[in-house]
This record gives sequence, structure tokens and C-alpha cells, in this order.
Amino acid sequence: MSNADELLRIEGIRKTFPGVVALDGVDFDLRRGEVHVLLGENGAGKSTLIKMLSGAYTPDAGRILADGREVRIGGAQDSERLGIATIYQEFNLVPDLTVAENIFLGRQPRRFGMIDRKRMEADAEVLLARVGVDVSPRARVRELGIARLQMVEIAKALSLDARVLIMDEPTAVLTSEEVDRLFAIVRRLRAEGVGIVFITHHLEEIAALGDRVTVIRDGRSVGQVPASTPEDELVRLMVGRSIEQQYPRERPETGTALLKVEGLTRDGVFHDVSFEVRAGEVVGIAGLVGAGRTEVARAVFGADPYDAGSVRVGDVPLRRHDVNAAMAAGIGLVPEDRKGQGLVLDASVEENLGLVTLRSATRAGLVDLKRQREAAARIAGQLGVRMAGLGQHVRTLSGGNQQKVVIGKWLLADTRVLILDEPTRGIDVGAKVEIYQLVNELTAQGAAVLMISSDLPEVLGMSDRVLVMAQGRIAGELAAGDATQDAVMALAVSTPAGSTNHSNGTEAPGGH
Ligand SMILES: Nc1ncnc2c1ncn2[C@@H]1O[C@H](COP(=O)(O)OP(=O)(O)OP(=O)(O)O)[C@@H](O)[C@H]1O
Ligand SMILES: [Mg+2]
Repeated sequence: MSNADELLRIEGIRKTFPGVVALDGVDFDLRRGEVHVLLGENGAGKSTLIKMLSGAYTPDAGRILADGREVRIGGAQDSERLGIATIYQEFNLVPDLTVAENIFLGRQPRRFGMIDRKRMEADAEVLLARVGVDVSPRARVRELGIARLQMVEIAKALSLDARVLIMDEPTAVLTSEEVDRLFAIVRRLRAEGVGIVFITHHLEEIAALGDRVTVIRDGRSVGQVPASTPEDELVRLMVGRSIEQQYPRERPETGTALLKVEGLTRDGVFHDVSFEVRAGEVVGIAGLVGAGRTEVARAVFGADPYDAGSVRVGDVPLRRHDVNAAMAAGIGLVPEDRKGQGLVLDASVEENLGLVTLRSATRAGLVDLKRQREAAARIAGQLGVRMAGLGQHVRTLSGGNQQKVVIGKWLLADTRVLILDEPTRGIDVGAKVEIYQLVNELTAQGAAVLMISSDLPEVLGMSDRVLVMAQGRIAGELAAGDATQDAVMALAVSTPAGSTNHSNGTEAPGGH
């Protein structure tokens, strides 16, 4: 391979934060026209590495070379000048600006000193068409679903004529259709000679899209292999051991119904939703994005109101739209949007873990801080939360570790009915299994678990029963034995009895 094809080279990069060695000697290189996958566990250092290229962080030691010459990337402008565009794990768009304004932020075309809106919108239109996304340049970013946000980010990268495109877990929040569309764009860019750095926890995407894989473990690059490497070998490289059973399922005898939802209706959103979850049982809810799954979960938890129906825990009817009542009855919710709803980002791991317990404890008039700390340490250890210590702010945890904290918070609170909404989004393969084991432990202790997931193998692998929602209704129920991908999908695209068929098959933009 000629050097002319090498866009970037990273040698021996190190980066420490107080109490954490995030990168401890990473080597990496990127060629023109390839998709180079970065693979590693939660907290391995993937996001930190790409932040060296985007100028968000500067390395403590090591070298970065662009086109064979050593460069210093001291900020976003340096990165941009080198033709590097980054799509972060957390998006970087300004919610209150329009799509066009976001794409050209800071670089708006001007005419007589004024921003030339017409031209900006026309240019944005061209870029959006190139990405193949149907969104108006005048739409506010706030109004877009996650998939569209991402397409806007890509359009923005295109507007910068990026030679290097970095994508940090772009598929974590996409439906399979949206993933297909994203892949088509990435393949086109690759054919045009763009070098793409792609981070994902979905192993099946690696062979489908990638060319080479660099595996990072504990801040070090531990191997570089072709993307065609078998998945179990990738897992072994990544976690240092092989994973025997991806979906461990040990269930006790189920007990009585703990969560009883009857005729739950929110006009225009979901209709006549009834189901029960028994003690010791995991019930999955599958369905397309926009089918109403998250909305039902939020209503059951009291986060949103509903117009008719009832929710009971055991025999206790819950007041509508009352999170405190739901929590007091023992319901917990791990929301799909951990940043927005699950965490206090500028509080410590310990404080976040204690949020629910602390609330009930202070209400009872006593807080045993020592016990609280011990419990927090135990649960963090059980979940394998990678952190400098319990005092670390949640904002600086890696994405997957933040998710573990949200789950840990409810585990600590002796939750009797746990609702999980996309619980393993952004979670690495090893940690997923740990979360499933915790679900098993919870059910063994007699808790009821309701699990919403767009990851079909996960729903099928972990649920005792699967409810499938379509168009705001329960389209059907499948027992674990009968639930196949095909059976679930057939129900997910069906038109359930009672619904007015106008939106069959079309997907509303994602959640929040
Ligand atoms: N600003 C910061 N301050 C302190 N620690 C940090 C900071 N940024 C990252 N870290 C730590 O560096 C380590 C690597 O984090 P990083 O976000 O790079 O992981 P990752 O591989 O992207 O993980 P994930 O798959 O969960 O996204 C983690 O232990 C994290 O807590
Ligand atoms: Mg990350």
C-alpha cells in the first residue's frame, strides 16, 4: 500500500484525566476509501481517541500525522482545516436553530453583509438530497427525530468537504431501515475516497460495512484485524475472554401479577393497552419506532398522563400522572434517553446511584450515608462501572457506563416492577450479558420486568412473553417458544383491530 493512501496516523497516544488513564498508547491509521472500525468495551477509550482528532482534547504524549506530516490538533478549527468531520456520540446541533442554520453554523453565506438565507437554504437542500434525507432546511432541529438529526450531521460533514469522517456509535439509536440508509451513504462516501472511522457495539455491522478493525482494550490498541474476522474472535480480542451464552435466561416459577395495566389510552397516541407482568417474569415489548412503546412506558411510570384506563401494582391502583406514587409502589423506569431523563450529569456516580433510594430514605426521615455509599459501591462493582471513583461526575463517564448507572439506580432502590426502555443501547457485548444477569437476579427476587427493545434478538432471547405493538395498540402476544423474528415483524407491521389504518408501515421519527 502506498503512503499516498494514508490519511491519518496515530502513534503511541496517551491521555490521562484525574484518576483515569483513558489512553495508554494507542496506534491507529486511516486510509483513503476505507471504513476503519474502532472496537472496544465501554470505557476502553474510543470516544477519547476520536476527540484527539476532532480537537476536543489534546494528547499528553504521542504523535498524530496527517498525510505523513506531524500535526498538532489544538481545536475544532485545526481539525476542520485537516478535513476531519466528527459526528459525536452526543449530537452537537443547536436545537433552536433551523437545519440550514445548523449545517452552516459560523459559515453562513452572506450577501451585502447579511446572511443570505435563500442561498443557505438552497445549499442545504442540495446537501440533504445528497444524504437522501427528506427534511426541510427550514425545520427546527428540535423537531427532528434522532435518525434525521444524524442525517443533518452528515450533511454538515459533507458541507465541509470532509476527507475524514468520524462517526461515534451512529447506529446505536437507529432502526434497521435507518441503518440501511446510513450504510448506503457511508459506502458512497467511501467510494468517493473519504476515510471513515466507525465506532459501534453491534458486531454484525463490522463485517457488513467495515474494512479493518482496531481493537482497543483499557486504553491500548491490542490488535488490528480485517473486518471479516469472526464475531467470537472479535469478542475475545475486545473483552479478553469468550462469551459463552449471550442471552442467559434463568427464571423462577412466576408468581402473581405485579403490574396490571388495563385499557390504557392516550388519545391519538396509544389505545386500549392491557397487559400484566407477573412476579419473576420478563415481558418484552417489540414494535417499530413510533408504535407507542415508550409512550406507554412513560404513562405507566406516571411521567405522562393518559385519558382512560388504569395501572395497578399488586392491588394498589396508581394515581394517574404521578411519578412519586409509581415509585412509592415500587416501579422504576430506565428511560431510552438517559442524558435527558435518567441522570443528573453534574452529580457524582454515588449521588446518581442514590437518587431514588435517597428520596425514599429522606422521606422516612433518615439517611444512612455510610450504608448508601456501601450500597453504591457494591452495585457499581456488580455492574462493572468503569470510573475513577464513586465521586466522578457522571458527565465524564463513557456512554455505556452512564447507562449502567441509570440501571444501578433502580437496582439499589429495591424496585419491584422495573421498566427498561432500550436498556442496552450503547452497551458493549460483555456488559450486556452482565445486565441480563442482573435482570435474572431481579426476577429471582420476585420482581417483574417489562423490557422495551428494538434489538429483536435481545427481546426474543430474554423475554418470557413478547407483546408486539403497532400503531399504538397491542397487535399480539407471543410466548417465548413461538416468538421468532418473522412472527414479531409480521405483527409489528400489521394493522391491529380497532385502529384506523392510515399510517401502516410508516415510521414516525424516534422518541425524544
Ligand atoms: N473529561 C473526562 N474526565 C474524566 N474522565 C474521562 C473524561 N473523558 C473520558 N474519561 C474517562 O476515560 C475513559 C474512556 O472513556 P471513553 O468515553 O473514551 O470510552 P468509550 O470507549 O468511548 O466507551 P463507550 O463505549 O461507553 O462509549 C473512561 O474511563 C472515562 O470515564
Ligand atoms: Mg464512547
